[in-house]
Amino acid sequence: MQFGYFDNEKREYVITDPRTPMPWANYLGSPAYGAIVTQNAGGYSFVKSGAAGRILRYIFNQFDEPGRYIYLRDEADGDFWSASWRPTEKPLTDYHTATRHGTAYTQIEACYKGIESKALYYVPLDATHEVWRLEVKNLGDTPRKIGVFGYAELTTESFYTQDLVNMQYTQFITVTEFHEDHILQRINQFCNRNAEGENGLERFFGMAGAKVESYTGRRERFLGTHRFHEPQGVLNGKLDNSLNFNGNPCGALHTVIELQPGESRTVAFILGQKGEKEAKRLIARYADTEKTVRKEWDELIAYWHGKLNNLNVKTPDEDLNTMVNTWNAFQCYITFVWSRAASLIYAGERNGYGYRDTVQDIQGIIHLDPQMAKERIKFMLSAQVHHGAGLPLVKFSHNPGHEDTPEQDSYVKTTGHPHYRADDAMWLFPTVYKYIAETGDKEFLNEVIPFADYDEGTVAEHLKRAIDFTMHHLGFHGMPAGLHADWNDCLQLGAQGESSFVAFQFYMAMVKLDELLPDTAEYREYKQWLKDQAKDQLQKINEFFWEDDRFLRGYTAEGAIIGSKNDIEASMWLNPQSWCVISGAATRDQAEKSMESVHRLLNTPNGIELMAPCYKEHYFDGAAMKLFNPTTKENGGIFCQPQGWAILAEALLGHGGRAFEYFKESCPSAYNDRAEIREVEPYVHSQFIEGHETPQPGRAHVHWLTGTASTVMVGMVEGILGLRPTPDGLRVSPAIPAEWDGFTMDKTFRGKRLHIVVDNSAHHEGGVRKTLVNGKETAADVLTDDMIQDGDTITVIM
Ligand code: GLC
Repeated sequence: MQFGYFDNEKREYVITDPRTPMPWANYLGSPAYGAIVTQNAGGYSFVKSGAAGRILRYIFNQFDEPGRYIYLRDEADGDFWSASWRPTEKPLTDYHTATRHGTAYTQIEACYKGIESKALYYVPLDATHEVWRLEVKNLGDTPRKIGVFGYAELTTESFYTQDLVNMQYTQFITVTEFHEDHILQRINQFCNRNAEGENGLERFFGMAGAKVESYTGRRERFLGTHRFHEPQGVLNGKLDNSLNFNGNPCGALHTVIELQPGESRTVAFILGQKGEKEAKRLIARYADTEKTVRKEWDELIAYWHGKLNNLNVKTPDEDLNTMVNTWNAFQCYITFVWSRAASLIYAGERNGYGYRDTVQDIQGIIHLDPQMAKERIKFMLSAQVHHGAGLPLVKFSHNPGHEDTPEQDSYVKTTGHPHYRADDAMWLFPTVYKYIAETGDKEFLNEVIPFADYDEGTVAEHLKRAIDFTMHHLGFHGMPAGLHADWNDCLQLGAQGESSFVAFQFYMAMVKLDELLPDTAEYREYKQWLKDQAKDQLQKINEFFWEDDRFLRGYTAEGAIIGSKNDIEASMWLNPQSWCVISGAATRDQAEKSMESVHRLLNTPNGIELMAPCYKEHYFDGAAMKLFNPTTKENGGIFCQPQGWAILAEALLGHGGRAFEYFKESCPSAYNDRAEIREVEPYVHSQFIEGHETPQPGRAHVHWLTGTASTVMVGMVEGILGLRPTPDGLRVSPAIPAEWDGFTMDKTFRGKRLHIVVDNSAHHEGGVRKTLVNGKETAADVLTDDMIQDGDTITVIM
């Protein structure tokens, strides 16, 4: 089944059949004002926090409602419909619709009874309000009179859970008022008022470009005893000019427009958390609705497309082009911006940044926007505790130098996190390395940054302390302890138990730090120490984690082995195999064998399972994944984030064909015409895909906000496409299917625009025979800054 298509020219996904198996969403706005919108106009908005700043109500896990509804009513016969297919759900034989999800905007187009409508939803750049612009056109040959109703269901107060469950309080704290062009909502109206009589909790829903004919600020009066497909107010053709006092607030505004044949009119609804004065000023800005909206929309497109243009690839595979150029890249930005804060699955309760998630998310945008990445890296370094560990949850209100930590009750109370994770700070190493490699900004290591609780140090010092933390938390073989969890949230190996995944990360951390630190007197001794420790870890890894054709997953605190081929369940794990390659710890032989085992024992048509066989009866106490259904999530599901690592590992081994096979298996766009399998959006990655022991293998879950965006991006860019910069310059070493003749890339690297041509007429899978700069062969493996100029063409012959 297919519900839409990719319009790559415009960087849009176009939903042509609105009856998708799940609501297919898009993101608008910024952390200051965020919004989610689906093809049914469902979704919600919030100021700063999905949990504490909710302004549009949404009922999760239900009917994708309420939404940003716009109703159109034929004044001649009273027939009415909505600008999105839902809520009125007119028969699709008469009602034609397409939803264009673009980069931070969504336009829902519809045509019914000769009236065409285009509802554009967006948050202007750097703004903290949203715009619903409606363009209506009369396609017929007789004049038409159309009633237009906009409806926004406002929460009773900012705390989303309070709004939904504490009704004995929240229903009685809010009122609505009408002011000429908008409904104004007040909350706790007599509390904390300033000179203007406002307390900062006012919200408005206004209309621009037309005169308000009628209104209501009271949900029950808009709906009557009906539901959204048939609101009483719209049935009546006019709202009853009522307001809310005790009960459910809303913003509902009505106008009537007359359209000559061929004529079109534009009106806009504006929504935000602002007082009356500011609301009036904002609405006035849209008096010339078409002009203002066009300008803001163009700015938005220029901003996003400008960012995405920093890497443009053209390969023989359309899925790869679509994902790398637009959708995977846009998703990387969205996860970078929102972390796991708010989606249709995350209700917004996670009020902060998970350490590992965020440090990983940064990696997805480094090749597009290293400066933006740098700011967030600094922020995350400032969330490292003085002893080197990362704070498991970094509050949105993070205050470096003054934070409490898991050692203190106050932190545990506010975040619910009493433990450090074994891996959190380990993610800093590949991320800082990638940033320095992308930019050449080696000076970054000397920047001084505070620690979360107290003390400060250079970036180099922060990294050293991360090494210290792991060094101080070793298990009984002297390898990194598993602590409360490593990357796998469900794996609790304990203070004496040991994790091979962290051992690989730790090994890589030491090798990378050694590479990054300059060979000066200051660091000479430390670098030697790093080398010795890395060697020692490597030896232990081989002694205690290697078993014939695989690396083990770990040891429990009791000494039980996890992931041995002798185990009845969970005998094979994906991450230790991909990470033995990524970390550089494995010998060629080990790498080949373990990745081959992955293919043999874990691969499915929809991606690679996280481990197998999944836990049912033979689990240990710390194996929290036993809670999940078989081959679901961490219990042997196709966890999507690790797909990126598998792609990267195969590419690093020069297995372009295998890397590409893994990309295709779980690539969302590759399922565009089989949407009944994945069910969620074919344009973004999800957190996991159901494995082979569920009734619907291939079904994907937890859309949009997932670390998959960044790991698959890195797997593609660094792995398959082979853009592998080092601190000294650019190395290009692709790993592609042997059938490909080659491909091209346009990439902005250190401020220079480069045209890269990969020639694979020899039909290899990996390896570079020759590199040419503007046609001139170079012997260098890494192209240093002095070797490349803006506008150069680099030819890589495989
Ligand atoms: C979820 C968590 C992430 C964790 C992963 C595996 O995606 O957000 O932190 O690494 O699950 O357990």
